[in-house]
Amino acid sequence: MEGPIHPMMLKRRDRGKLDPAQRSSPSDIGQRSVRESMRLEVPFQDHPQFEQGLLACTVIIFGADGDLMKRKLMPALYRLAYDRRLSPGFVVLGTSRTPLSDEQFRAKMLDAVKQFSEDTKFDEYVWRAFANSLFYVAGDINDSQLFQNLGTRLAEIKLARHTSDNVVFYLAIQPSKYVAVAQSVGAVGLGRGDGWRRLIVEKPFGFDVASARELSSQLHRAFDESEIYRMDHYLGKEALQNILAFRFGNGIFEPLWNRRYVNHVQITAAESVGLEGRVTYYQETGALADMIQNHLLQILATIAMESPSTGFHATSIHDEKSKVLRSIKPMMPEEVRRRAVPGQYGPGRIGGEDVRGFREEPNVNSEARTETFAALTLFIENQRWAGVPFYLRTGKRMPKRITEIAIQFNDAPLAVTEGVSVDCASNELVFRVQPEEGISLKFLSKRPGPGMTLRPVSMDFHQASSFGERSPSAYENVLLDAIAGDASLYTRQDMVEAGWSVVEPIQDAWREKQFDFPNYAAGTWGPAAADEMLARRGHRWRTS
Ligand SMILES: NC(=O)c1ccc[n+]([C@@H]2O[C@H](COP(=O)([O-])OP(=O)(O)OC[C@H]3O[C@@H](n4cnc5c(N)ncnc54)[C@H](OP(=O)(O)O)[C@@H]3O)[C@@H](O)[C@H]2O)c1
Repeated sequence: MEGPIHPMMLKRRDRGKLDPAQRSSPSDIGQRSVRESMRLEVPFQDHPQFEQGLLACTVIIFGADGDLMKRKLMPALYRLAYDRRLSPGFVVLGTSRTPLSDEQFRAKMLDAVKQFSEDTKFDEYVWRAFANSLFYVAGDINDSQLFQNLGTRLAEIKLARHTSDNVVFYLAIQPSKYVAVAQSVGAVGLGRGDGWRRLIVEKPFGFDVASARELSSQLHRAFDESEIYRMDHYLGKEALQNILAFRFGNGIFEPLWNRRYVNHVQITAAESVGLEGRVTYYQETGALADMIQNHLLQILATIAMESPSTGFHATSIHDEKSKVLRSIKPMMPEEVRRRAVPGQYGPGRIGGEDVRGFREEPNVNSEARTETFAALTLFIENQRWAGVPFYLRTGKRMPKRITEIAIQFNDAPLAVTEGVSVDCASNELVFRVQPEEGISLKFLSKRPGPGMTLRPVSMDFHQASSFGERSPSAYENVLLDAIAGDASLYTRQDMVEAGWSVVEPIQDAWREKQFDFPNYAAGTWGPAAADEMLARRGHRWRTS
């Protein structure tokens, strides 16, 4: 392959393999012909059997009988097999307490794939080949015998299947058990071998700065920081990765991407669903820690970061995001009152159906103080963003499921804009993360006919129709990257701690106060106080 290649031109799988000398600056992209960039694509889909693309490895999944495994991990792994993206030496070794034979485990995983693979056709041939790579060991994490058994099974599989000695440990278990697993893995010698070792840790990572730091230091006793992959599956979403491509692969918007032109930014992650069974976890966690500390702050960092001057690889991307997160000044208690709004839903109607309030949900404490909604105004104190409000909002039981980022630009100063409704921003760039990935740009246009009446119109990019192919799920992307050794879509210790530094003072202030919950009806966009928070600066939430 000649000349420099920009990592974004490659299929995700191959990015980790890029030689630093082959990385190019973003400006190089525009100088490449479309034909040349297409030549760099790897035609995965054309191979009749699993191709030898990725390194062979064993993924040991703790919590293999749990909800995450069934709903997300197994469907994602099956899809990777379906797309021929796994090597023949790829093996999954699941473990949890429930006694299951390999065959019973495979049968359960088959049910999960059939139930939760939303947009993938079930293919008996692919499944049979893939199912042969699934193995299971039952045992309790607190029992050292489990880890001995895993070691024995790993050795047997390696001999029988000619797999390599590369191992990913995936902790899909309760966070209170992360340290026990990592230390037992180390104690029985599974943490080292002829091949590489990687540890994927699910969220939540700690519950404040001190606990996150302590968790990292405990994990470091068995794994090096470079081997720890902290999961934030939002980073695996195609639309989020596309923000980097949009910002740094194009020359148009970057000159406007600063406090001179951007009036404010709104980041919304709304869900119409309620608890979906995860009652104990959610009741103790709340919207702030469940969504804002990780997903929404990662989105903010993606929007606000500088272009990594040393190239698009994990370390430089993490460095830039970390700088942004550390530039958010934590709120003082009196600021929390003005710049942070908690909410909890009461009964209401969504999609024409009556739904109950949070406190009436099964197994929820009738006096629960958990916030199911949170809205914040944050400021990034650096040269680029000083004084620009970043509004973050997330909630359950909202009118619809939507995750989007709206960049609102300053209005034009001229009188030609007379006659335009003051209700809407004239220039707005919106990244839609879900349900339909895309980007739209709103601007004013002259209404046909006499006079100069302006009306907002928009230019839309729809990812699905433009590319005509399915976007991989977030878990497909992040799993593939961990196997390829690319941590770009994972978070690092300092990023996690910076996130907690933003959230912790708000958590502390909210714990001290008794709120008048419920304060929004299910099926609405949250409490009135969240609207008032924006209105004080002359802004209003998008309700598209
Ligand atoms: N579910 C999601 O959508 C989701 C989303 C984001 C993050 N996460 C994170 O993913 C992790 C797992 O969540 P989950 O919803 O899958 O939990 P879950 O449904 O409660 O499953 C927990 C799993 O851990 C196993 N387990 C529990 N105690 C064990 C022990 N002492 N020894 C061995 N295995 C044990 C259980 O095995 P048995 O059933 O055999 O007892 C089960 O397989 C959590 O950290 C969660 O925060 C989950």
